[in-house]
Amino acid sequence: MIDLTLNNGVTLPALGLGVFQSSPEDTAAAVETALRLGYRHIDTAAAYGNERQVGEGLRASGVDRDDVFLETKVWPSDYGYEKTLHAFEKATGKLGVDTLDLLILHQPVPDRFELVVDAYRALEQLYADGRVRAIGVSNFMPHHLEKLLASASVVPAVNQVELHPYFTQPAVQAANAQHGILTQAWSPIGGITFYPGWGDERVSVMQDPTIVEIVEIAGQHGRSPAQVMLRWGIQQGRSVIPKSTNPERIAQNFDVFDFSLSAEELARIDALDTGVRGGPDPDVPRDSFFDRVIDEA
Ligand code: A2P
Repeated sequence: MIDLTLNNGVTLPALGLGVFQSSPEDTAAAVETALRLGYRHIDTAAAYGNERQVGEGLRASGVDRDDVFLETKVWPSDYGYEKTLHAFEKATGKLGVDTLDLLILHQPVPDRFELVVDAYRALEQLYADGRVRAIGVSNFMPHHLEKLLASASVVPAVNQVELHPYFTQPAVQAANAQHGILTQAWSPIGGITFYPGWGDERVSVMQDPTIVEIVEIAGQHGRSPAQVMLRWGIQQGRSVIPKSTNPERIAQNFDVFDFSLSAEELARIDALDTGVRGGPDPDVPRDSFFDRVIDEA
């Protein structure tokens, strides 16, 4: 396992288990399996509706809570200073823990930015109080970061964004690097390009000819497309959080630390960027979606 160091000195395993779209029924087992296999980093979110099951999986695994880097996200309906402080209580209550390793704002919501600023102030307070070991943001584009940094006193440690070979967000990665913010990739194996129900016209990056060719030429690696994409992310210094609820694939995704891609292979994957995102545009208002109420613990 490779560890990454955040801008405040806190370390985290570069590879964690993602649980976006893991049903509550499947989540506890996936988390338990991952932890038993050696994963020590789990990424969830209030909006995923499975924080409780993440906590169950953590306890069932027998792994010491302090040995796991636990990350969750505040949904926009909980933005605002007091509401965000309360969102921390909801999240820790559901997870069954006292502290979080990383708490991030899930969306930039540019048309409600004053609430974003207030929410971030609450994160800064939680950080000052030692309730969270690091704070950050998600889905922020460079202009959202600039706006936040104008009033923030703690630079976010992490910006979690959509990032896979078809959407590499070079400008976001550069802005993050400039401010010492770790880029964390959601959908690092391009799940967003093949999730059922997200549009039939999508081309799955898993079947991309270049990825397949790298897997084939890289016969010496004997690896799968998912493993090649994870290795690409890790070698470029990103945090990656592939989602799987399937035990074999959870294991496969963790087995990426005994091979490496050449500079040429990394560059060929970089060149696949289409500049077209698979997920929603963070600048487009989605009021009813953002207003979804997050349950109490
Ligand atoms: P499953 O949970 O059935 O394994 P991402 O994290 O990039 O969004 O990708 C998640 C998607 O990729 C899910 O549909 C997941 O399904 C699938 N997946 C996870 N790991 C692998 C793998 N090693 N090979 C193929 N598909 C995978």
